[in-house]
Amino acid sequence: MFLLFAAAGGIVFGGLALFYHLPLDTRDRSPKQPVDFSHSLHVAENGIDCLYCHRQAPQAAIAGIPEVATCVECHLHIAADAPEVKTMIDFWQRKEPIPWVRVHHLPDHVYFTHRMHLRAGIDCAACHGDVGTMDRITRVASLKMGWCLGCHRERQASIDCWTCHI
Ligand code: HEC
Ligand code: HEC
Ligand code: HEC
Ligand code: HEC
Ligand code: HEC
Repeated sequence: MFLLFAAAGGIVFGGLALFYHLPLDTRDRSPKQPVDFSHSLHVAENGIDCLYCHRQAPQAAIAGIPEVATCVECHLHIAADAPEVKTMIDFWQRKEPIPWVRVHHLPDHVYFTHRMHLRAGIDCAACHGDVGTMDRITRVASLKMGWCLGCHRERQASIDCWTCHI
C-alpha cells in the first residue's frame, strides 16, 4: 500500500516537476538566429574579446547583447558585401533592433547576476561552454537549480534559498 502510494506520489510529483521545467526544456538549445552570426569567426578566428560585445557583464546582472551600431562600426569596412552582413545593415538602416532569439533564460523568480560570478574569477566557459568556437550558439548547461547548487557547494558559495529567490 505504502509502495503504491509512493509510486503515485512520484508520478504526481514528477508530473509537476515536468510541468515547471517545460518552458526551458522544450526550447531549442540552438535556435536559428535572424542573422547568421558566428562566434567562432569573430572570437577564435579574429581574436575579438567576449567583453568587446558583452560589455555589461562585469558590472551588471546581464551580460548584454551588442546593438546593431556595434556591428556596423566594423562592418561598414569589413565584409560589407557578404549577404548576412547586408541583412544586418538592413536592420540598421531601418533603425530596428535585430530580434535575436534568447538561448539562456531563467524564470522570473530566480535572481542571477553576472557581476558577482565574474568577480569570483569564473570564466564564461564554465557556464556557457566553449562559445568562442561555436558557429551557432548552443546552450550547454541545464540552468536548473541543481546545476547552480552543485557549483555553489563546490566553491563554498551560499546555498541559502534567499540568495537566488527573492
Ligand atoms: C562580435 C561580437 C561578439 C563577440 C566578440 C562575442 N559575442 Fe556572444 N553574442 C553576440 C551576439 C550578437 C549574440 C546574439 C546572437 C547569437 O546568439 O548568436 C551573442 C550571444 C551570446 C550568448 C547567448 C545569449 C543568449 O541568448 O542566451 C552567449 C552565452 C555569448 N554570446 C557568450 C559569448 C562569449 C563567452 C564570448 C567570448 C568567448 C562572446 N560571446 C563573444 C556577439 C558577440
Ligand atoms: C570588432 C569588429 C567586428 C565587430 C564588432 C563585428 N564583426 Fe562581424 N566580422 C568581423 C570580422 C573581422 C569578420 C571576418 C571577415 C572575413 O573573414 O572576411 C566578420 C565576419 C562577419 C560575418 C560573416 C561575413 C562573411 O564573410 O560571410 C557576419 C555575418 C558578421 N561578421 C556579422 C556581425 C554581426 C551581426 C555583428 C554584431 C553583433 C558583428 N559582425 C560585429 C569583425 C567584426
Ligand atoms: C556562473 C555562470 C555564468 C558565467 C560565469 C557567465 N554566465 Fe552568462 N549567463 C548565465 C546565466 C544563468 C544566464 C541566464 C540569465 C537569465 O536568464 O537571467 C546567462 C545569460 C547570458 C547572456 C544572455 C543574457 C544576458 O545576460 O545578456 C549572455 C550574452 C551571456 N550570458 C554572456 C556571458 C559572457 C560573455 C560571460 C563571460 C564574460 C558570461 N556570460 C559568464 C550564466 C553565466
Ligand atoms: C561555476 C560555478 C557557479 C555556477 C554554475 C553558479 N554560481 Fe552563483 N556563485 C558562484 C560563486 C563562486 C559565488 C560567490 C561569489 C562571491 O561571493 O564572491 C556565487 C554567488 C552567487 C550569488 C550571490 C551574489 C551576491 O550578491 O552575494 C547569486 C545570487 C548566485 N551566485 C546565483 C546563481 C544562480 C541563480 C546560478 C544558476 C543559474 C548560479 N549562481 C550558478 C559560482 C557559481
Ligand atoms: C544558487 C541558486 C539557488 C539556490 C541557493 C536555491 N535555488 Fe531554487 N531555483 C534556482 C533556479 C535556477 C531555479 C529555476 C530552475 C529550476 O526550476 O530548476 C530554481 C527553482 C526553484 C523552485 C521552482 C520549482 C521547480 O522545480 O521549478 C523552487 C520551489 C525552489 N527553487 C525552491 C528553493 C528552495 C526552497 C531553496 C533553499 C533550500 C532554493 N530553491 C535555493 C536556484 C536556486
